[in-house]
Amino acid sequence: MAVGPSIGDLHFATEPSVDEVPGPNSRRLLKRQREIDSNAVAYPRRVPIALEEARGATVRDVDGNTFLDFFAGIGVLNVGHSNPYVLEGTQEQLESVAHTIDFPTEARVDLIEKLRTIAPGGLAGSSNVVFGGPSGSDAIEGSIKLAKHNTGRHGLLGFEGAYHGTTAGALSLTAGKKYKAGYGPLLADAVHVPYPMRNAGVGGQDACERCLDAVKRKFEAPYGGHETPAGIWVEPIQGEGGVVVPPEGFLQGLRDIADDNDAMLIVDEIQTGLGRTGEWFATDHFDMTPDAITMAKALGGTGLPIGAMLYHEEFDTWGPGGHVGTFRGNAPAMVGGLRAIEYIESHDLLSHATTLGQYLRDRLHEVAETTPEVVDVRGKGLFVGAEFVDDGEPDADLVEAIQTRCYENGLLVWNAGRHGNVLRLIPPLVLTREQAAVGMDILCNAIRASTAEGRN
Ligand SMILES: Cc1ncc(COP(=O)(O)O)c(C=O)c1O
Repeated sequence: MAVGPSIGDLHFATEPSVDEVPGPNSRRLLKRQREIDSNAVAYPRRVPIALEEARGATVRDVDGNTFLDFFAGIGVLNVGHSNPYVLEGTQEQLESVAHTIDFPTEARVDLIEKLRTIAPGGLAGSSNVVFGGPSGSDAIEGSIKLAKHNTGRHGLLGFEGAYHGTTAGALSLTAGKKYKAGYGPLLADAVHVPYPMRNAGVGGQDACERCLDAVKRKFEAPYGGHETPAGIWVEPIQGEGGVVVPPEGFLQGLRDIADDNDAMLIVDEIQTGLGRTGEWFATDHFDMTPDAITMAKALGGTGLPIGAMLYHEEFDTWGPGGHVGTFRGNAPAMVGGLRAIEYIESHDLLSHATTLGQYLRDRLHEVAETTPEVVDVRGKGLFVGAEFVDDGEPDADLVEAIQTRCYENGLLVWNAGRHGNVLRLIPPLVLTREQAAVGMDILCNAIRASTAEGRN
């Protein structure tokens, strides 16, 4: 018997319904926010709505407009907004005990057991889990400590195009200059090497070999320029960098280099994990075993914050208090995470994500046939990217125009990419086939209209 309602029963509607956007109530709240909230607020600048409630793959604003949500709280709501099966467990736990530091609870131990079962490759059944602070950045900080502690070295190796978060250690591994400018120096000896991709100057047949060679040299070249890294941090599919799927052999090559150099290989599954790509973890697509994976975002099920790292038991070398944090026992989020995994299993959402993701890419390929501005469509499962150029140059304005048209017609989408010129689709895994068709009609029309406008 499946747990919770079927995916068809989770949403406000199959189709969006949008009157005036932003409506008067949204405009009023946006104005109030602008007056007193931080200037750092970013999302409503591009998608100017104030939220009232959300269900499944749909959100409703304070004027009663209903949108299809193709970015799921930026990859958090894999089982949809307010999934009743997840909410029920979360609320019960909230009423019994919410804050538990690291005392054992059923919620904590059950979630750890489940994560050990679905962990990628050889991590399954022989791993430990550590919870620290509640964000993805916190999980990355934990992984930096783990690698330093186990290797006795301090250098870090990451990739161009990477995003690992914004706390000092995580920011050292993040590649985007816009996030770092003015905040250096960060951690010493953090280096970035190219990640294999098309259209970034490192494409072509031998991109994988050239990138792996660059990694190898950072470890083995006697005049490599810095301390030998303690670990390699890699997104199995780059998210913020533009939904970049690496070629076969890349992650396995990193595994070999880490082994040859007694370094740890940490795969950042914060955006790609927990079913997003049609497997429990994106690592599962590449037939290799990392030493550790980081998780956050979808881990809490309902959007409650929780970050974690799962690592091979041989690296569980720290003593009591070796990695701590006041909020490492968010029991409602732990129940939420467990129930979200159960919901995904019970509704076969990994294969649903695989087939629906292929449908989204097929629709984008169809548009690309008559739209030369679309130069690449990529991704795995419901992690989808489409790259746009104008005369061969990255075209972020075009992506913004498409995003605005989608919003005006009731579809929320987000962007990504080193130059902001990639449209990123990361809908909840509970999106139905019918909703996907409606959303893709809106998106494809927006692409056609925006490219036509750009050419005139
Ligand atoms: C791959 C990846 N790692 C780390 C992070 C940082 O997570 P948080 O924003 O929760 O700190 C993100 C956030 O988008 C991410 O996509």
